[in-house]
Amino acid sequence: MLSPPLDASPEDVRALLLPLRNDFSVAVESPGNAFAVGAIIRVAHSFLAREIFVIGEAPFYAKASMGMEKYETVVTVRDVDAFLDATQGRPRYCFEREHARRSVYAVESFPKNVVLVFGSERFGLTAGLMNVADDILAIPQYGVNQSFPVAIAAGIAMSEWARRHYGA
Ligand SMILES: C[S@@+](CC[C@H](N)C(=O)[O-])C[C@H]1O[C@@H](n2cnc3c(N)ncnc32)[C@H](O)[C@@H]1O
Repeated sequence: MLSPPLDASPEDVRALLLPLRNDFSVAVESPGNAFAVGAIIRVAHSFLAREIFVIGEAPFYAKASMGMEKYETVVTVRDVDAFLDATQGRPRYCFEREHARRSVYAVESFPKNVVLVFGSERFGLTAGLMNVADDILAIPQYGVNQSFPVAIAAGIAMSEWARRHYGA
């Protein structure tokens, strides 16, 4: 596990990390996700995602990423159409338990350049995104409640991506 040289400039850290980045990205529909977007950026940094798409221009609390946003490419797109343009040709795997086609544990391997897509804390994923999804996955829940906080779901999904890619 690497530790970035924290005394180096963000530009130097970005350049150092560039060849190490993984071939997946993360996207989150942002309305109502003021703190979650920051937490997702922070976790995506740990997993060295290629970039983080934030769909919608609702404000979010960037500081929740604890400074890690300096090292990440955060792409804010106006709406779902702009997101589809920005990710044209890339497989989009949506996460939404209630609409899932299968469990994330049933995925043998994620396709190259996949974008892992998450919904808003309050409303979940919009139909506009789920209708064009290449897959819709559930993270099984074994305790109480119907869903996880979106940042937790994104962390589990990134961990599942990494487990398949790198092995246990
Ligand atoms: C709090 S949940 C949204 C809850 C619910 N679907 C709704 O419409 O009110 C926020 C997001 O986290 C992700 N998520 C949370 N729990 C999940 C699970 N068990 N399986 C897959 N995705 C999950 C989904 O992307 C979801 O849109």
